[in-house]
Amino acid sequence: MFKPIKPFFTLLLMVSLAAKVSAQEDLPVYLNEAKPIEERIEDALSRMTLEEKVKMVHAQSKFSSAGVPRLGIPENWMTDGPHGIRAEVFWDEWDQAGWTNDSCIAFPALTCLAATWNKEMSALYGKVIGEEARYRNKNVLLGPGVNIYRTPLNGRNFEYMGEDPFLASRMVVPYIQGVQSNGVAACVKHFALNNQETDRHTVNVNVDDRTLYEIYLPAFKAAVQEGKAWAIMGAYNKYKGQWAGQNQFLLNDILRGEWKFDGVVVSDWGGINDTKQAIYHGLDMEFGSWTNGLSEGASNAYDNYYLANPFLKLLKSGEVKEEEVDKKVRNILRLVFRTNMNTKRPYGSFGSPEHGLAGKKIAQEGIVLLKNANNKLPIQLSKVKRVAVIGENAVKVMTVGGGSSSLKAKYEISPLEGLRNRIGKEAELVFARGYVGEKPKAQDGLNTGDVVETRSSEELSKEALDAARNADFVIFVGGLNKNDGQDSEGNDRKSLGLPYNQDKLISALAKVNKNLAVVIISGNAVAMPWVNEVSSIVQGWYLGSEAGSALASVLVGDVNPSGKLPFTFPVKLEDNGAHKLGDYPGKGEQTYNEGLFVGYRWADKHQIKPLFSFGHGLSYTSFAYGKASADGRDLNADGKITFSVPVKNTGKREGQEVVQLYIHDVQSSVPRPLKELKAFEKVSLKAGETKIVKFTIDKSALSFFDAGKHDWVAEPGEFKALIGASSTDIRQTVGFNLR
Ligand code: BGC
Repeated sequence: MFKPIKPFFTLLLMVSLAAKVSAQEDLPVYLNEAKPIEERIEDALSRMTLEEKVKMVHAQSKFSSAGVPRLGIPENWMTDGPHGIRAEVFWDEWDQAGWTNDSCIAFPALTCLAATWNKEMSALYGKVIGEEARYRNKNVLLGPGVNIYRTPLNGRNFEYMGEDPFLASRMVVPYIQGVQSNGVAACVKHFALNNQETDRHTVNVNVDDRTLYEIYLPAFKAAVQEGKAWAIMGAYNKYKGQWAGQNQFLLNDILRGEWKFDGVVVSDWGGINDTKQAIYHGLDMEFGSWTNGLSEGASNAYDNYYLANPFLKLLKSGEVKEEEVDKKVRNILRLVFRTNMNTKRPYGSFGSPEHGLAGKKIAQEGIVLLKNANNKLPIQLSKVKRVAVIGENAVKVMTVGGGSSSLKAKYEISPLEGLRNRIGKEAELVFARGYVGEKPKAQDGLNTGDVVETRSSEELSKEALDAARNADFVIFVGGLNKNDGQDSEGNDRKSLGLPYNQDKLISALAKVNKNLAVVIISGNAVAMPWVNEVSSIVQGWYLGSEAGSALASVLVGDVNPSGKLPFTFPVKLEDNGAHKLGDYPGKGEQTYNEGLFVGYRWADKHQIKPLFSFGHGLSYTSFAYGKASADGRDLNADGKITFSVPVKNTGKREGQEVVQLYIHDVQSSVPRPLKELKAFEKVSLKAGETKIVKFTIDKSALSFFDAGKHDWVAEPGEFKALIGASSTDIRQTVGFNLR
């Protein structure tokens, strides 16, 4: 038999590998992926003309900036973000371009993701949304958003991760890593202090350094240093009198100086206002300066951007050194090499059933059971024959609207549809709208799906009450929506209350049927004057494509709810620091007089009982916390301490509990919040099962930011670890000392 086949193939392989290596070596350095990225950047830069460099630092269309075609360096393409991949728009306009292959999977809003308190859900979210972006050939995803929830009126809270810097920090990191594993940059926004929509383009935020570093910056810092985000977006508002996107303090001193950020700083769309500041204060790419592409220029408005011809002129005259544009182009080239010039990045996928399922899983884990008196939920289908579903939000399209996060979703299962699919065969389902919101508006050229209502509110209410009276179980699906002035970009809400007279209807429903579950669809806390009148309340967020199926699965108990609130629900607006002190929304200036005392920190300080606390969320089973202990009495300055607590599922079904650890500083030289979240773990427990939950911390969990020293300080002394099921449901306390 002829044998030398193996050596022959080995030889062939060696020859082809050698050819590959030599082909790589023949490549210019910037194209050679085997070379260190910094060498490639310098090589590419050395080949570029001044004009080519300037072209890279500003937009060429609504969502793209130029590459260098001569050198094979591709354009950069951005996409919103953060809940799904935005539909294609025209080159120069916000209007949709009418493509037929750009319908995405809409994922749950980031408030829902934060409410999962599950880092694995965050990683999954990042991975799948990154795959969608990659498939659509976008190399920058404009998200996630991590602005802190300061006031429940902020119209954009639904795009963020809640009120606590630690929770937001832990949840943002895996999202970024997931996105970037696709060779797509996560662009973390809006850096920084964009905590209200009112006057967002002009407001100057005044905040003391300690509050800035302890509350408003940690999630961004974690995004940069742990998530290794490749891009960040400067906010619209001002800080220290300079717009955040062209801000010496935020961008040069903190982001690049202290945190050593090596990615690109992208402006928010239209957030740039001055060429010199845009040149010198850390910005790399200017976008959206004039929304209509042509009206501000003779032939091309983009040439008139602050970082376009005005910049080129200054460079040519020598008034600005070429090094200034080089700094920006280096960052952009780094972005390009990390993303669309990485030949090994995966190809992504779009609108797939797997992505739909991922969205459903995240939605199911984020839904929060706020109240469940007499265990009215889950609905017992063996006993319930007729279900009345009431409320406009049971049928309202929620993926459209809300501003830049608006989506053209491949599909969206409404709560009514989800319930029909799940229980339609077992029970009779009756729907009544009950109330009506604003007249439907087409957004982005997309119909919001609303049916125009011709009946009066009395007629609607009567129909709903009749349906409720004759049902065995009533599900009210209401809350806010994505209209302007509610959960929507550009404006804040006007009040904490529910719109469209829903309070009155809910109270009336509670009178005619005791088996009432209220589902609130919102990205914000709402007032609930009827809280004691209804048996069950569910926080249903904006859940995306699989909204209805996820909600139905929780309502009937296929899924045991395990979400916990990522922000406080105050009883009334004045229970929130920014409102109590009357600072919000400010007049040109917005001073954060409540300082560190945001959310539960304020409620703790002033002993205000929230309607529902930060970290609160119930389950269809129950959990008992055993005695907590520490592995020592003392924590050394450079050491660690581990706390353990046995948690038992004492109910009859499997469930997940989010065990939370807060730190209380017994004695401090500065005022400190009564407690601060410093660790959490979501554990899954079968009925009767016990697991030991362990938390390891070091002195960073005990530190405060000393503004005088401009550094973090942990003062030796006594501390307490408070372990519990929410910020107001502490079950175990363990004392220890920092030495
Ligand atoms: C928003 C950003 C968004 C951008 C592009 C701006 O108005 O503030 O979050 O990414 O538009 O759509």
